[in-house]
Amino acid sequence: MRTPSRFPALAPGLALFGALAGGPAGAQTAAPVALTVQVNKPGAAVNKNMYGLFFEDINFAADGGLYPELVKNKSFETDAALIGWKALQGAANLDAYAVRNEQGVSATNKHYVRLTTRAGAPGEAGLENEGFRGMGVKAGAEYTLSFYARRGPGSVGGLTAVIVGEKGQALATAPVTGFTDQWQKYTVVLKATGTLNKASLKLVLNGTGTVDLDVISLFPKDTWKGRPNGLRTDLVQLLKDMQPGFLRFPGGCIVEGRTLSERYQWKETIGDVAARMPLINRWNMEFKHRSTPDYYQSFGLGFYEYFQLAEDIGAEPLPILNVGMACQFNSGELAPMGTASTKGGPNAEGAGAPGADPSLDVFIQDALDLVEFANGPASSPWGAKRAAMGHPAPFNLKMIGIGNEQWGPQYLERYEPFAKAVKAKYPSMEIVSSAGPSPDGELFDKASKRLGELKAEYVDEHYYALPDWFRQHADRYDKYPRTGPKIFAGEYAAQSVAIGSPDNKNTWDCAISEAAFMTGLERNADVVGMASYAPLLANVDAWQWTPDMIWFDNLNSYGSPSYYVQKMYALNKGTNVLPVTMPGGAKNGTDNLFASAVADDKAGDVVVKLVNYSSSPRAVKINLAGAKKLGKTGRAQVMASADLQTQNSLKEPQKLAPQQSTFAVSGTTLSYTLAPNSFTVLRVAGKK
Ligand code: AHR
Repeated sequence: MRTPSRFPALAPGLALFGALAGGPAGAQTAAPVALTVQVNKPGAAVNKNMYGLFFEDINFAADGGLYPELVKNKSFETDAALIGWKALQGAANLDAYAVRNEQGVSATNKHYVRLTTRAGAPGEAGLENEGFRGMGVKAGAEYTLSFYARRGPGSVGGLTAVIVGEKGQALATAPVTGFTDQWQKYTVVLKATGTLNKASLKLVLNGTGTVDLDVISLFPKDTWKGRPNGLRTDLVQLLKDMQPGFLRFPGGCIVEGRTLSERYQWKETIGDVAARMPLINRWNMEFKHRSTPDYYQSFGLGFYEYFQLAEDIGAEPLPILNVGMACQFNSGELAPMGTASTKGGPNAEGAGAPGADPSLDVFIQDALDLVEFANGPASSPWGAKRAAMGHPAPFNLKMIGIGNEQWGPQYLERYEPFAKAVKAKYPSMEIVSSAGPSPDGELFDKASKRLGELKAEYVDEHYYALPDWFRQHADRYDKYPRTGPKIFAGEYAAQSVAIGSPDNKNTWDCAISEAAFMTGLERNADVVGMASYAPLLANVDAWQWTPDMIWFDNLNSYGSPSYYVQKMYALNKGTNVLPVTMPGGAKNGTDNLFASAVADDKAGDVVVKLVNYSSSPRAVKINLAGAKKLGKTGRAQVMASADLQTQNSLKEPQKLAPQQSTFAVSGTTLSYTLAPNSFTVLRVAGKK
C-alpha cells in the first residue's frame, strides 16, 4: 500500500557457516571482544509495559483467526449477501434461494435466507457454508450450532446439521426439529468424530416447502476461558506467553477505513453479537495480488472482547480511534472541523446521520464515550452497557491513540482539539499521537516538532524497511532529545524484499535485524516507552500482508522467528537500563555486534542482550562492573541459525526458537562465545 522510501541493498548473502558455536568460551583464534556493563550505574527505568502487541484485523486475523466463529457471513448482511454460502446440490433442488429483508430477526439484522424445496426433487436440499477457507474441527471436540428459523408453507419441520469433510464424509450430525411460523432460536451441539482443517457445514432441510433461516453460527466450545463468544485458545496462548505490556487495537489502517463511512466505529461492535452488523474489511481488495473479496468484519470480536482479551493476557488496553480522517493512502476523506457537517446540515441535523459526513465533534464524542464505556461506573450510560455485557468492574483504561498512521496539517489540526477535549474530561488519560507512516522526512519532522510543542505524551513511529535498515538504525534513539514526548515504536517489521511485497518472508535475517534494532530501543528506555511488531496475525490461506508475527491455519499456529525475538525481549525487559561500553566507542553495532543490558531488580538479575550478526562465532568477555556478588552460573537463551533465511512453518513450528543453557561466571567476569548469526540473552543472578 505504500511506496518504500528507499531500496537499500538486500541483506548480504552470508555463507552457511558450520554448526552453531554458542556457549561458554572455548578455544578462539580471535581475541574476545571486551564489553563492560556498569551494574553499579543503573540508568532509566524500563516501562513495565514496554513490549506489547499490535492487533489489526488484517490477514483474517479476527474472523477466520482469533475469533473462532466457523460460519462466514452468518447473518446474510454482507454486501453480496450470499458470500460463503451455496445451495446444496445446485439450485435444481431449491425453488427459491433468496435473501430477503422483510420481517427479519431484528431491526438491524434485516436479511435472512429463504429456502423453498420442491416435492419429489432428488437429493438433499438446503445450504452449505464454506467457513473461512474451510472450518477447522477436532476429533472429540464439541461445536455449538445455533440459528433462527421460521417455517413457511409446506412441511419443513426441521433440518439435519452435518459437519462434513472434503470428500463428503460426515464428521458430526444432529437433527433439529420443531420449526414454527415465528422466528425462534434453535441450538444443538455437534461432536466431531474426526479432525479436519477444511470441513464445512451443511444444513439439510427435512420436508418440503419454505423455511427462513438467519444468524447461523457454529462455534467451538473450546474457547479461551470456555467463554461462549470466546477466542481461539492456541492463538491467545501464544499472545499471553509473550507477557505483553499492552494490546493496541483495532489497528492499523482498519481504524481509518478507505472512506469515512467504512471507518471503524466502536459503538457498532458492542452489545448483542447477533445484532452487530458486518462491515467491509478495508484490506478486502487493497492488494490486487492478494485480493480477498469475501473479507468482512463481523465484529464478533468487538471492543468489549478486545478489552477482555487485554485483561486476560495482562496487557494494558490501547484503543486507537479515528481522528476524523479516512486512510490517506485511499480516499483521505476528512471530517469537517468542529460541529460543521458537509452533508446533512449543521450538527443537530447532520452529524452522524446516514449520508452525512460527521463532524470532528462526533469523533471526539465517540472517544469520550469510549472512556466511559471502559472506566465509567455501571450507573453511567456507557458503563452500564459494559456491565450489561458481563463486566461491571472498569477495564481501567489509561491510554488512547488519536488517529492511526495519519500525517500532514489535516492531522495536526484535528489532533489538537481532539486531545484537548480528552484531557479536559480525563486529565490522566495518556494520549498516543501519530508521526505518520515514515520514520523520517519533512512530514515526519514537522509532525514530531508540532507534537512536541503540543506536549504529546507518546508519538507513534512506524518503520517497515529492509533488514539492513534495522541494523543500521540501532542507534536511532541514542540521538533523540531527552525531553519531549516519549516514543511509541508502534509498528515495525523488517521486510525481506520490500514494503508490501507478497514475497516478504519471516526469515531469521529479518528477526535478528529487529533484535539488533531493539538493543537501541532498550538502551534508550528513557525515550522509548512502548514498542510493538506489526502486523500480529496471519491466516496462511487468506493473508494480504507479509511478514507477520504469528501464522495459523484453521487448526494450528506458530510463532515466526520475530515472535521469539519479541518474546525474549518482553520476558527479559528488566527494570532499569545498564550502560554498556564496547570497543570502538560506546556506539553499538560495531562490527555487527549489538548489545544492551538491564538490571532486573525484581528477580535480582543482570541481563545482557547480544546480537552477533556475523557468520563467524564471536567470543565476548563481559565485565559486570560494580556487581557485588554474582552467581557462579548464569542462564543463556539463544536463537541462532547459520542460515539467515531460516523460517518457521506449520510443519516445523519451532525450527528456530530460543534454546536454554547455562554458563559459568568467574568473579565479575563472564566469558561467552556467541554463535554465528545469533541473538543471546544472558542472565546472571547478582543484583541482590
Ligand atoms: O501493519 C499493516 C499496516 O501498516 C497498518 O494497518 C498501517 O498502520 C501501516 O501502514
